[in-house]
Amino acid sequence: MNVLFLLVLIYSTQALPDGAPTSVCDTMTPFHGSGIPFQRSLPPYAVVTRLQNDVVQVSIGSALGIQFQGFMVQGRTLDGDILGTFQLPGGIPAHTIDCNRAGDTVTHNKANKTDQLDFIWVPPAGYEGDVVFNSTIAQDYSHFWVGITSPPVRIRRRSVSVDSFYEGCGVTKYCYGAPIDCVFNENCKVAVAVTSVGDAFDFELKANGNPVWVGVGLSDDAKMGDDSVVECVKDNGRISAFMSWTGTNPYRATRLDDPQQGIILLNASSKGDELYCKVRRNTVTNIKGNVFDLRRNSFHVLVASGSELKPNSVGFHNLEFLASPDPQVLSPNSQTLFNENPQVDTTTPPYFSPPATNAASTEFDPFYEGCDYYKLCFGHPRGCEKTRNCKAVTAITVTGDKYDFEMKADGNAGWVGVGLSDDSKMGDDSVIECVKDGNRLRTYMSWTNNRPYGATRLNNPQLGIELLNSSMIDDSIYCKVRRNVVTNVNGVIFDLARDSYHVLVASGSQVKQNGVGYHDLVFSASGDKRALSDTSEVKAASKLLIHLHGAFMLVAWIGTTSIGVLLARYFRQTWVGSTLMGKDIWFAWHRIFMVSTWLLTMAAFVIIFVELKAWSLEKNPHAILGTVTTILCLFQPIGAYFRPHPGTTYRPLFNWAHWLAGNAAHIIGIVAIFFAVRLTKAELPEEVDYILVAYVIVHVVTHLILSLLYCVSEKSSDSRVSSFPMKDLGGTGRNSLYNERSLDARFSSSRKVILGLYIVIIVILVVALVLITIYAPKWPFVNA
Ligand SMILES: *[C@@H]1O[C@H](CO)[C@@H](O)[C@H](O)[C@H]1NC(C)=O
Ligand SMILES: *[C@@H]1O[C@H](CO)[C@@H](O)[C@H](O)[C@H]1NC(C)=O
Ligand SMILES: *[C@@H]1O[C@H](CO)[C@@H](O)[C@H](O)[C@H]1NC(C)=O
Repeated sequence: MNVLFLLVLIYSTQALPDGAPTSVCDTMTPFHGSGIPFQRSLPPYAVVTRLQNDVVQVSIGSALGIQFQGFMVQGRTLDGDILGTFQLPGGIPAHTIDCNRAGDTVTHNKANKTDQLDFIWVPPAGYEGDVVFNSTIAQDYSHFWVGITSPPVRIRRRSVSVDSFYEGCGVTKYCYGAPIDCVFNENCKVAVAVTSVGDAFDFELKANGNPVWVGVGLSDDAKMGDDSVVECVKDNGRISAFMSWTGTNPYRATRLDDPQQGIILLNASSKGDELYCKVRRNTVTNIKGNVFDLRRNSFHVLVASGSELKPNSVGFHNLEFLASPDPQVLSPNSQTLFNENPQVDTTTPPYFSPPATNAASTEFDPFYEGCDYYKLCFGHPRGCEKTRNCKAVTAITVTGDKYDFEMKADGNAGWVGVGLSDDSKMGDDSVIECVKDGNRLRTYMSWTNNRPYGATRLNNPQLGIELLNSSMIDDSIYCKVRRNVVTNVNGVIFDLARDSYHVLVASGSQVKQNGVGYHDLVFSASGDKRALSDTSEVKAASKLLIHLHGAFMLVAWIGTTSIGVLLARYFRQTWVGSTLMGKDIWFAWHRIFMVSTWLLTMAAFVIIFVELKAWSLEKNPHAILGTVTTILCLFQPIGAYFRPHPGTTYRPLFNWAHWLAGNAAHIIGIVAIFFAVRLTKAELPEEVDYILVAYVIVHVVTHLILSLLYCVSEKSSDSRVSSFPMKDLGGTGRNSLYNERSLDARFSSSRKVILGLYIVIIVILVVALVLITIYAPKWPFVNA
């Protein structure tokens, strides 16, 4: 009787002792006793996520410091499908169960009280989309909350490694190799990949170039000496693993008395010129009185390989040798991923204060501390330095003769750059780039060319700069770069102390092999030049006038001119008999369209001179062609106003001149628009060319069809009064038409249909072009 009572007591205070069973995969509702309902109050627990490279750190805990005993967590699509797999750092009181796929759900081991737990969730290869983490967390046996979810996390498609050795490097395993950067490029001559497994670490070693040994050393410093080494040795076709110790003097690795101390060889192979082995090493080993705790301590990692052996020792590392300059944490699935948030022993779990919502975290963003006070801050969108929610931002701090540029961009930016410019436009600017490279950030100096949007790395891309600090948190990248006061970039002296500059900020999602991609996320330039030590507010330059110029000219020369010309050329014998404002329909509309063209062109011409205040110095014929078009356009209505009366001697001359000047202006205008795409200032994407080509094709084809209709109609008609479309120019003028006034020429309805189609297409093209111009340089409307 007493025993039974005790059992009931134990069970009533504990959550399910061995974690959730797979029977509750879908409902996530524990079957505690006979139907104890879940709590309907606001849960005191939360699921917090942090996207790190390609995986998600999932943490559960309570902002109120309330411990929990049981839990169950799954990654789910927004439709509720379970996906991904959990990886658990060694030693945590949790295990995975298999709901749909192996390891897709994590639950507790024993119902012990816990403050907070972190897991790694790995998305399925190739998955792209949102994931939410859905959980049930039990405070004790009878108090549990179901459906505690995280905000959705956007997963990008994981890059697939060609060589499986490198798969998960920087994500689920720690990798290091020689030569420098080879892990990122997956072409190491010697490399180690370390995975934390339960209470041990697996070291995979690989070396190329016909080595007979490959070793990995763990050291307190970046030099050889007093290091613990795991070596794989191929001797007489047999591969073995040994533990050794490097002495300081002589610098040599000596096998331990027990050369298998704390290690087991799991696998080994020798294929072609490659030697591979996998060794499991205990987390804690005591070697010659030195304790190596791989979980608690960090180490400099040394990798080496050689082609000679000595009796009972390896030879000189004649093939490769490299040591990490900084201590490395070997279990990326517990600490390196989160080393910005060192484990702190407080009652409140560190990840839950402040709550990790975007809105709240911006308030605590130290980046903006001191803006307008001791930092010069400038970002996009306008005024974001104040509201602390910039998409891309720079903060320049001048202390003595040190110029530090901090830059930050979110929205999964692949790069963020800060340019210094003589003007507020791109071109001839010195740029500091902060670029994502695998799972680290690098900084480079580059120079923007006059060709649209080209930033070219300098031959010496580290010229005058030094990366002081960098971080990748969630979807944002951050770099702090120190720049020399004076630099000579491509022959231009940048003296930050003496001169003032426009500050440009840009970010983009794409990184190319040797430079950054298009600034598809953000581009913004400060409106006035600033001494960099001047920390008052920076205003963005307005691009309104340039956008207006472009929009006006596009409407004028692609829109109204094209339609007006078509009307004058093919529609003189359509709507015959009807009039508008006392004129033939075609003429009335021709005049409306052409007057619009004239007004828009003149306005646009004035606007661009107001904006640039001078003749454009860009080596681009746009300015000349545009001016020619504008002058021709200027005189067209003046000529038309003084046109001789129909039938008079000079009427044909006028007609020809009017036709010639109009068409010349139109053609030159279109060519000028093509060149505008190549103007740096316009910041137009080159795709605009396709729209322009489409326009030319539509225009030419329409003219061809209408001309053809005209010829057929003339041939089949008895009336030889008229000739080619220009017949009106031949001398008889409008009088000749009076005979036929009662009747439209043949194919009149086809012509009207073609005109209707043509107008629709032209309107669509013009609207598209104007929108692109106004939204330039953001295309294709990223983040719009
Ligand atoms: C989380 O799981 C609970 C229980 O199965 C379910 O009712 C809820 O809809 C889930 N929430 C999401 C966002 O999937
Ligand atoms: C040993 O390594 C080879 C090649 O990497 C692999 O195919 C094999 O599955 C491994 N065996 C074990 C037991 O891990
Ligand atoms: C680098 O940034 C981190 C986080 O912002 C900060 O704690 C650390 O002090 C910085 N290091 C340097 C050298 O500025």
